Amino acid sequence: MIGEFDNSFDFATNILEAGAYFREPATNPEALPIHLSTAHNVNDLDDLQKRYDESGFCYNRYRNPNRTALNDLMTYIENGKASGSYNSGMAAICAAIISNTKAGDHVVSGDTLYGESLEIFTKIVGKYGVETTFVDICDLDAVKAAMRPNTVMIYGETVANPVIAVPDIKALSEIAHANNALLIIDNTFMTGALFRPLDFGADIVVSSLTKFANGHSDSTAGALTSNDPELVKKAFDMQQLMGNQASPFDSWLTSRGIRTLDLRVKKQSDNACALAKMFAESPYVEAVYHPSLESNPYHEIATKQFGKYYGPMLSVVLPEDREKMNKFMRSMKLCHYAMTLGGYRTTMSYPPMSSHSDLTREERYAMGITDGLLRFSCGIEDTDDLVADMKRALEEAYGA
Ligand SMILES: Cc1ncc(COP(=O)(O)O)c(C=O)c1O
Repeated sequence: MIGEFDNSFDFATNILEAGAYFREPATNPEALPIHLSTAHNVNDLDDLQKRYDESGFCYNRYRNPNRTALNDLMTYIENGKASGSYNSGMAAICAAIISNTKAGDHVVSGDTLYGESLEIFTKIVGKYGVETTFVDICDLDAVKAAMRPNTVMIYGETVANPVIAVPDIKALSEIAHANNALLIIDNTFMTGALFRPLDFGADIVVSSLTKFANGHSDSTAGALTSNDPELVKKAFDMQQLMGNQASPFDSWLTSRGIRTLDLRVKKQSDNACALAKMFAESPYVEAVYHPSLESNPYHEIATKQFGKYYGPMLSVVLPEDREKMNKFMRSMKLCHYAMTLGGYRTTMSYPPMSSHSDLTREERYAMGITDGLLRFSCGIEDTDDLVADMKRALEEAYGA
């Protein structure tokens, strides 16, 4: 039996057995341990059957205690009924889309999604006979016009990158449901701490946990959550075949990061509001994209959906002068260029040379992604320090 130790066996045998079965629950650790074990022993066939019946732990690719802990945490923060955790945000998004489409189906998708999410439609499901119409999902008439009898899904993001557009999630869910279609929303930029798409009628919420959820730029993971456990199960069944589960270590790190999510994203959102105000008042900035600004076209819907937290992401348009943009970047002390977002430090990216570099100049400009556009992901720095640092850097670059 598990837990029994027999001294009569040889050293070569018992070196494998000693200490192997000490029982963690008895130690009752304050922090969740990392369960790296690829499999969990059972005592006999009855125990094995019980493990299956209870969806217990047998083999890591099916279930792992750290992944289950992360699933439970995501289900709570997104206010759903079940979740699945994946080895990246892209894996979770693929799972949500692929497990709910088949040849002959039609999808209506936002046209300014995270670049690689767009490519799931054009480069993966498109190959298998799923047709996608890309529209501005903030334009509800355009969404309604794009719906067809075989539309099975509307796909969008709570806050669309990088011009920070905010669609009306409730209205989108009504359009989807009137057509018996699902609404799938990527909530990476807001997280369940600031906004819960499921409460507004979305059927599945997907997230890159690599970003604000983990918040420390040191793990890669994703999740999908739904109020309908059948939708999560469909994706779970596919996950067993794709093998793209979140690893125990990434699940553990991400769960640990999420413990401070509420504190972080609220501060990050406040910092974004303060920066947006400073940029809007600056003579050197041509445009600011953040829904906290009353002049922003999404201010009203953002206030209705998000309340006082307008989100930690903002973009600005600076004059198209590469030398001055370089000088601005070099002058900032508190903001670093990073090919990610959502960490505790403020970071920036340049969409024309990162997320949207595959598009032609004309395509980019049509989406508002000009050569002067910089995107910021706000950190948890002291607000006055952050604002003063950016203001000084602007002055140094553009004031001379
Ligand atoms: C909005 C959004 N969704 C999904 C992803 C993909 O996440 P991951 O890199 O964890 O696969 C990203 C990545 O930046 C993102 O910004």
